[in-house]
Amino acid sequence: SAPFTIAIDGPAAAGKGTISKAVAAHFQMAHLDTGLLYRAVGAKVLQGADAVAAARSLVPSDLEDDTLRGQDVAQAASQVAVIGEVRAALLEFQRSFARRAGGAVLDGRDIGTVICPGAEAKLFVTASAEVRAKRRYDELVQRGQTADLDEVTADVKARDARDMARSEAPLKPADDAVLIDTSNQTIDEAVAAAIAAVNAKK
Ligand code: C5P
Repeated sequence: SAPFTIAIDGPAAAGKGTISKAVAAHFQMAHLDTGLLYRAVGAKVLQGADAVAAARSLVPSDLEDDTLRGQDVAQAASQVAVIGEVRAALLEFQRSFARRAGGAVLDGRDIGTVICPGAEAKLFVTASAEVRAKRRYDELVQRGQTADLDEVTADVKARDARDMARSEAPLKPADDAVLIDTSNQTIDEAVAAAIAAVNAKK
Protein backbone atom coordinates (compact mmCIF):
# COMPACT_ATOMS: atom_id res chain seq x y z
CA SER A 1 0.00 0.00 0.00
CA ALA A 2 1.11 3.60 -0.53
CA PRO A 3 2.92 5.24 2.38
CA PHE A 4 0.69 7.18 4.76
CA THR A 5 1.78 10.80 5.21
CA ILE A 6 0.77 12.99 8.13
CA ALA A 7 1.25 16.75 7.54
CA ILE A 8 1.35 18.96 10.64
CA ASP A 9 1.54 22.71 10.10
CA GLY A 10 1.12 25.78 12.27
CA PRO A 11 2.77 28.90 13.67
CA ALA A 12 5.78 29.01 15.98
CA ALA A 13 5.51 27.35 19.41
CA ALA A 14 1.93 26.11 18.94
CA GLY A 15 2.99 22.62 20.03
CA LYS A 16 3.68 21.13 16.58
CA GLY A 17 7.02 19.65 17.57
CA THR A 18 5.74 17.88 20.67
CA ILE A 19 2.59 16.67 18.91
CA SER A 20 4.51 15.51 15.84
CA LYS A 21 6.98 13.46 17.88
CA ALA A 22 4.17 11.86 19.88
CA VAL A 23 2.08 11.10 16.76
CA ALA A 24 5.11 9.60 14.99
CA ALA A 25 5.88 7.41 18.03
CA HIS A 26 2.23 6.34 18.33
CA PHE A 27 1.96 5.26 14.68
CA GLN A 28 5.61 4.10 14.54
CA MET A 29 6.45 6.44 11.67
CA ALA A 30 9.55 8.45 10.85
CA HIS A 31 9.37 12.17 11.72
CA LEU A 32 10.92 15.17 9.99
CA ASP A 33 10.93 18.61 11.63
CA THR A 34 11.19 20.66 8.43
CA GLY A 35 11.87 23.87 10.38
CA LEU A 36 15.34 22.44 11.00
CA LEU A 37 16.09 22.67 7.27
CA TYR A 38 15.36 26.42 7.24
CA ARG A 39 17.15 26.88 10.56
CA ALA A 40 20.26 25.13 9.21
CA VAL A 41 20.25 27.45 6.18
CA GLY A 42 19.63 30.47 8.44
CA ALA A 43 22.56 29.46 10.68
CA LYS A 44 24.87 29.28 7.66
CA VAL A 45 23.72 32.72 6.50
CA LEU A 46 24.52 34.10 9.98
CA GLN A 47 28.03 32.70 9.41
CA GLY A 48 28.28 34.55 6.11
CA ALA A 49 27.08 32.00 3.57
CA ASP A 50 24.78 32.69 0.62
CA ALA A 51 21.26 31.41 1.38
CA VAL A 52 20.59 29.65 -1.91
CA ALA A 53 24.06 28.05 -2.03
CA ALA A 54 23.64 26.90 1.59
CA ALA A 55 20.23 25.36 0.84
CA ARG A 56 21.59 23.53 -2.22
CA SER A 57 24.54 22.07 -0.31
CA LEU A 58 22.69 21.11 2.90
CA VAL A 59 23.52 17.65 4.26
CA PRO A 60 21.57 15.69 6.92
CA SER A 61 24.30 16.15 9.56
CA ASP A 62 23.74 19.95 9.32
CA LEU A 63 20.41 19.33 11.10
CA GLU A 64 22.05 17.96 14.24
CA ASP A 65 23.58 21.24 15.39
CA ASP A 66 22.36 22.23 18.91
CA THR A 67 22.68 25.96 18.18
CA LEU A 68 19.79 25.73 15.68
CA ARG A 69 17.26 26.15 18.54
CA GLY A 70 18.15 29.80 19.31
CA GLN A 71 15.97 32.84 18.59
CA ASP A 72 18.55 34.48 16.30
CA VAL A 73 18.63 31.37 14.14
CA ALA A 74 14.80 31.25 14.12
CA GLN A 75 14.62 34.79 12.75
CA ALA A 76 17.31 34.05 10.16
CA ALA A 77 15.38 30.91 9.18
CA SER A 78 12.18 32.86 8.53
CA GLN A 79 14.17 35.38 6.47
CA VAL A 80 15.70 32.74 4.19
CA ALA A 81 12.31 30.98 4.03
CA VAL A 82 10.85 33.79 1.89
CA ILE A 83 13.35 33.00 -0.92
CA GLY A 84 11.79 30.81 -3.60
CA GLU A 85 15.10 29.20 -4.63
CA VAL A 86 15.79 28.23 -1.03
CA ARG A 87 12.38 26.55 -0.73
CA ALA A 88 12.85 24.83 -4.10
CA ALA A 89 16.25 23.47 -3.03
CA LEU A 90 14.70 21.89 0.09
CA LEU A 91 11.60 20.47 -1.62
CA GLU A 92 12.82 17.10 -2.88
CA PHE A 93 14.48 16.11 0.41
CA GLN A 94 11.12 16.64 2.15
CA ARG A 95 9.08 14.83 -0.51
CA SER A 96 11.38 11.82 -0.53
CA PHE A 97 11.21 11.69 3.26
CA ALA A 98 7.40 11.64 2.97
CA ARG A 99 7.59 8.63 0.64
CA ARG A 100 9.27 6.41 3.25
CA ALA A 101 7.87 2.91 3.23
CA GLY A 102 6.57 2.99 6.79
CA GLY A 103 4.87 6.36 6.37
CA ALA A 104 6.05 9.66 7.77
CA VAL A 105 5.08 12.65 9.86
CA LEU A 106 6.36 16.01 8.58
CA ASP A 107 5.84 19.22 10.51
CA GLY A 108 6.34 22.77 9.28
CA ARG A 109 4.41 25.61 7.65
CA ASP A 110 3.59 24.40 4.13
CA ILE A 111 3.51 20.61 4.39
CA GLY A 112 -0.23 20.19 3.79
CA THR A 113 -0.39 22.98 1.19
CA VAL A 114 2.81 22.63 -0.91
CA ILE A 115 5.17 19.81 0.12
CA CYS A 116 2.60 17.02 0.55
CA PRO A 117 -0.74 18.29 -0.78
CA GLY A 118 -1.87 14.67 -1.09
CA ALA A 119 -1.10 13.80 2.55
CA GLU A 120 -3.64 11.38 3.98
CA ALA A 121 -3.96 13.33 7.23
CA LYS A 122 -3.43 17.08 7.67
CA LEU A 123 -3.44 18.91 10.97
CA PHE A 124 -3.12 22.63 11.60
CA VAL A 125 -1.94 23.19 15.16
CA THR A 126 -2.40 26.64 16.57
CA ALA A 127 -2.67 28.61 19.84
CA SER A 128 -3.01 32.26 20.80
CA ALA A 129 0.11 34.40 20.28
CA GLU A 130 0.35 35.04 24.06
CA VAL A 131 0.25 31.34 24.92
CA ARG A 132 2.81 30.53 22.24
CA ALA A 133 5.19 33.27 23.35
CA LYS A 134 4.96 32.12 26.98
CA ARG A 135 5.72 28.53 25.95
CA ARG A 136 8.73 29.59 23.88
CA TYR A 137 9.91 31.78 26.79
CA ASP A 138 9.61 28.90 29.29
CA GLU A 139 11.48 26.64 26.87
CA LEU A 140 14.38 29.12 26.52
CA VAL A 141 14.61 29.64 30.29
CA GLN A 142 14.53 25.89 30.87
CA ARG A 143 17.44 25.55 28.48
CA GLY A 144 19.38 28.03 30.59
CA GLN A 145 19.19 30.87 28.06
CA THR A 146 18.40 34.41 29.22
CA ALA A 147 15.09 35.55 27.80
CA ASP A 148 12.70 38.48 28.08
CA LEU A 149 8.98 37.69 27.66
CA ASP A 150 8.22 40.93 25.75
CA GLU A 151 11.11 40.30 23.37
CA VAL A 152 10.10 36.68 22.82
CA THR A 153 6.50 37.79 22.16
CA ALA A 154 7.65 40.39 19.62
CA ASP A 155 9.92 37.78 18.01
CA VAL A 156 7.18 35.17 17.68
CA LYS A 157 4.74 37.74 16.24
CA ALA A 158 7.32 39.06 13.73
CA ARG A 159 8.11 35.55 12.56
CA ASP A 160 4.41 34.60 12.18
CA ALA A 161 3.69 37.82 10.28
CA ARG A 162 6.57 37.13 7.87
CA ASP A 163 5.56 33.47 7.47
CA MET A 164 1.92 34.37 6.71
CA ALA A 165 2.64 37.35 4.43
CA ARG A 166 5.21 35.79 2.09
CA SER A 167 4.18 34.96 -1.48
CA GLU A 168 6.02 31.60 -1.58
CA ALA A 169 4.23 28.89 0.40
CA PRO A 170 2.75 31.15 3.08
CA LEU A 171 1.69 29.75 6.44
CA LYS A 172 -2.01 28.86 6.21
CA PRO A 173 -4.17 25.84 6.89
CA ALA A 174 -4.83 23.53 3.94
CA ASP A 175 -8.52 23.46 3.01
CA ASP A 176 -8.76 19.89 4.25
CA ALA A 177 -6.71 20.33 7.46
CA VAL A 178 -8.17 19.54 10.88
CA LEU A 179 -7.64 22.53 13.21
CA ILE A 180 -6.29 21.87 16.70
CA ASP A 181 -6.14 24.87 19.04
CA THR A 182 -3.84 24.00 21.93
CA SER A 183 -4.30 27.31 23.84
CA ASN A 184 -6.27 25.63 26.62
CA GLN A 185 -5.07 22.06 26.19
CA THR A 186 -2.52 20.06 28.12
CA ILE A 187 0.10 18.23 26.04
CA ASP A 188 -1.75 14.95 26.61
CA GLU A 189 -5.06 16.44 25.43
CA ALA A 190 -3.47 17.93 22.32
CA VAL A 191 -1.71 14.67 21.46
CA ALA A 192 -4.94 12.70 21.97
CA ALA A 193 -6.82 15.12 19.68
CA ALA A 194 -4.12 14.77 17.00
CA ILE A 195 -4.13 10.96 17.16
CA ALA A 196 -7.94 10.90 16.96
CA ALA A 197 -7.85 13.20 13.92
CA VAL A 198 -5.35 10.90 12.17
CA ASN A 199 -7.33 7.77 13.05
CA ALA A 200 -10.40 9.37 11.48
CA LYS A 201 -8.49 9.41 8.13
CA LYS A 202 -7.23 5.82 8.33
O1 C5P B 1 9.34 25.41 12.91
P1 C5P B 1 10.49 26.34 13.16
O2 C5P B 1 10.17 27.39 14.18
O3 C5P B 1 11.76 25.62 13.49
O4 C5P B 1 10.74 27.07 11.77
C1 C5P B 1 11.66 28.11 11.61
C2 C5P B 1 11.26 28.97 10.42
O5 C5P B 1 11.44 28.20 9.22
C3 C5P B 1 9.79 29.38 10.38
O6 C5P B 1 9.55 30.62 11.05
C4 C5P B 1 9.51 29.51 8.88
O7 C5P B 1 9.86 30.78 8.39
C5 C5P B 1 10.44 28.51 8.25
N1 C5P B 1 9.76 27.28 7.82
C6 C5P B 1 9.10 27.30 6.60
N2 C5P B 1 8.52 26.17 6.12
C7 C5P B 1 8.54 25.04 6.83
C8 C5P B 1 9.17 24.99 8.09
C9 C5P B 1 9.76 26.15 8.57
O8 C5P B 1 9.05 28.34 5.95
N3 C5P B 1 7.97 23.94 6.32
